[in-house]
Amino acid sequence: MFTFFLVTFFLGLCEYSSASRQFLKLEKFQQERPVIGIVTVPGQKESFTDLGKTQYIFEMNEVFMSKQDIDSVFIPYNINDKDLYEVLQKINGVFFTGGDVDLYDEKTGELHIYTITSQKIFHYALNQTDNGDYYPIIGICQGIELLHIIVANNTQALGWSKYENKRANTQINHHLFNSSRLLQSLTSEVLHTIQQRDILYHLHHRGIPVKDYERFEKLADFFHILSTNIFEDQEIVSTAEAKNYPIYVFQYHPEVVYEPTPDINSDKSRHSVTFAHQLTSFFKAELLKNNHRFESEEDIDQIRVRNGFKGKTSYVQDFANTFGFDY
Ligand SMILES: *[C@@H]1O[C@H](CO)[C@@H](O)[C@H](O)[C@H]1NC(C)=O
Ligand SMILES: *[C@@H]1O[C@H](CO)[C@@H](O)[C@H](O)[C@H]1NC(C)=O
Ligand SMILES: *[C@@H]1O[C@H](CO)[C@@H](O)[C@H](O)[C@H]1NC(C)=O
Repeated sequence: MFTFFLVTFFLGLCEYSSASRQFLKLEKFQQERPVIGIVTVPGQKESFTDLGKTQYIFEMNEVFMSKQDIDSVFIPYNINDKDLYEVLQKINGVFFTGGDVDLYDEKTGELHIYTITSQKIFHYALNQTDNGDYYPIIGICQGIELLHIIVANNTQALGWSKYENKRANTQINHHLFNSSRLLQSLTSEVLHTIQQRDILYHLHHRGIPVKDYERFEKLADFFHILSTNIFEDQEIVSTAEAKNYPIYVFQYHPEVVYEPTPDINSDKSRHSVTFAHQLTSFFKAELLKNNHRFESEEDIDQIRVRNGFKGKTSYVQDFANTFGFDY
């Protein structure tokens, strides 16, 4: 009787401490290593064989985050509401990558499901931040275009601006040096470099004309333009941050520094590596400002980007590595 009691007591204790250790480990895990949700891009039918799946994320986006110890899970672009709101509660923020989605139908104006899902994420993030739960969003290339359409609530906010597989520097809005969260997080050396050297990589045929900020008041109310570029005689927004929300958008591709595909005409110098590193260091600090948590590491593992199918698809022309998913 006594022995039995002792045994169960000790067993109980062991179970308890191992469970609590597990819990502490996980708590610590996401406290030090935030988890970002990356929205997948729908694959083109003719690419399914190379992708191995129907939707994907370019590997360079995952590497960009992981270099700074930010973990990535995927959010299917066509996710249902139940799954979407479940995952949004567990991740620390969302990343909209570059891609080749027609965000809306040119003829009918109808929004792509990718855009509709993104709208839901955007409104969720705003509501969380409004309620004291700091919820960051990062958008690159297609991401800056997407978030401008959503904020303007008008697809006409998306203009045409072609600059493909080329590098440029950028003109920073000096008035914002001392008030922009993002600009303040960059060293003066990096700020100098991105203004003086052509290290920022562009690959786009659409963009956001600065003039749009006059046409669509909501844009000027919502964003500060941090930097601009002039391509084909038109000034476009190349970096912006939301005034009252942790939302940061870029027309150029800082993540491409981690992509070795030979026909990508990007800068691979230490300047680009340092720039990418300072950006993700800033994102990480932003992501760590909320307490969103997964229940277990296995829970993360089920949707970890890294566990996706290793495929490839064309970036410029040559193939770049992808993680593929079905949903
Ligand atoms: C906004 O957030 C609050 C607090 O988290 C929540 O109770 C409410 O349902 C949210 N509203 C919407 C429209 O999502
Ligand atoms: C966005 O536009 C749609 C269609 O024009 C309109 O019905 C809706 O009320 C607008 N939403 C906001 C938040 O302005
Ligand atoms: C920013 O702050 C620095 C140091 O406080 C100051 O010297 C500089 O003039 C400020 N720049 C602008 C554009 O306000």
